[in-house]
Amino acid sequence: MKKAFITGITGQDGSYLAELLLDEGYQVYGLTRRTSTQNFARIQNIIHNPNLELISGDLIDQHSLSFALKEIQPDEVYNLAAQSFVQASWEQPILTGEFTAIGVARVLEAVRFSAPKAKFYQASSSEMFGKVREVPQNEDTPFYPRSPYGVAKVYGHWITVNYRESYDMFAVSGILFNHESPKRGLEFVTRKITNAVARIKLGKQEYIELGNLDAKRDWGYAKDYVKAMHLMLQQDSAEDFVIATGETHSVQDFLELACKAADLGDWQQYYKHNPKYDRPAEVDVLIGDASKAKKMLNWQPSVNFEELVKLMVEADIKIEEKTVH
Ligand code: NAP
Ligand code: GDD
Repeated sequence: MKKAFITGITGQDGSYLAELLLDEGYQVYGLTRRTSTQNFARIQNIIHNPNLELISGDLIDQHSLSFALKEIQPDEVYNLAAQSFVQASWEQPILTGEFTAIGVARVLEAVRFSAPKAKFYQASSSEMFGKVREVPQNEDTPFYPRSPYGVAKVYGHWITVNYRESYDMFAVSGILFNHESPKRGLEFVTRKITNAVARIKLGKQEYIELGNLDAKRDWGYAKDYVKAMHLMLQQDSAEDFVIATGETHSVQDFLELACKAADLGDWQQYYKHNPKYDRPAEVDVLIGDASKAKKMLNWQPSVNFEELVKLMVEADIKIEEKTVH
């Protein structure tokens, strides 16, 4: 039985990846941080699976990582944990650097000394392309990050490459473009919109306040993207891959389609601009070229933009129907 260790298992991607690996017959170990209230909503459906074990630890605590890996001796390590919200990275740049940048080095050190045969996956991000140097972005496109989060991810990316080249480790980076789902955190724009649209539909809310409607992203479905992570660790050689749909849409497109999916009529009557959500430096447009992944991993997205918006709106309407407030 193959063993996988996942940091960030309570997050959107970690929860889907854990489901996938359990279905593939893995023994899965998930790192969770101690919190005063348990935070297992996204892994509720798998928490009683006998092949899942939760291990207490933190990206800031080297010993917890080294100890876990020494005990488990996993075949595969997926480092998905991070302070992942771009906006918050301006409010907490130091913490973002600790978790999202140096945290990667801590996990790599733990792999190097405690489980050197394990294959390592780093959750790199299209946010590294920032003020884009070419269109579309591929594995060779230079980085120009535009947020403390993006800067931290560039460190995480290059330290992964460096450990691969320095210590001959099987260490790869997946440069994933935005991916969403009903499990997406409510602070990210897609879920913020689909949740608000569901609440407006049910008469619980009148309008939604947003920042920049013109920003464009290459949005895919999270379940498709965790498959790509797994595929990258099944290869014979360690290589980095861009994972994206190859389409870009604006925040306004997302809002319009979400209102349409809920039969709400003209989206403009529900929208207010709030400068609080504008960013100090914006990433205007992202669009990825995933042809390397298509060719070498035989990976391609199964859900398009319209389907993604619809499935998220429908899921949020169901959730809001069951919620009192
Ligand atoms: P997410 O939902 O925000 O999940 C982040 C996870 O990291 C949570 O499980 C969180 O635990 C954990 N975490 C945060 N700080 C930690 C620490 N100090 N020690 C241990 N665990 C910690 O993020 P996601 O959307 O699943 O994304 C997964 C990874 O992919 C992240 O690294 C993100 O930056 C990257 N990424 C995401 C996208 C995307 O579009 N989703 C695109 C490219 C890259 P708690 O539950 O305790 O907070
Ligand atoms: N969150 C948020 N809230 N974003 C808004 C809002 C709002 O009210 N209004 C407009 N936006 C715009 C942001 O300015 C940004 O241009 C775009 O919507 C997307 O914002 P997010 O959904 O917060 O995602 P992100 O693109 O900044 O970051 C996500 O994708 C990265 C990959 O490119 C995160 O998942 C990162 O962790 C990930 O690395």
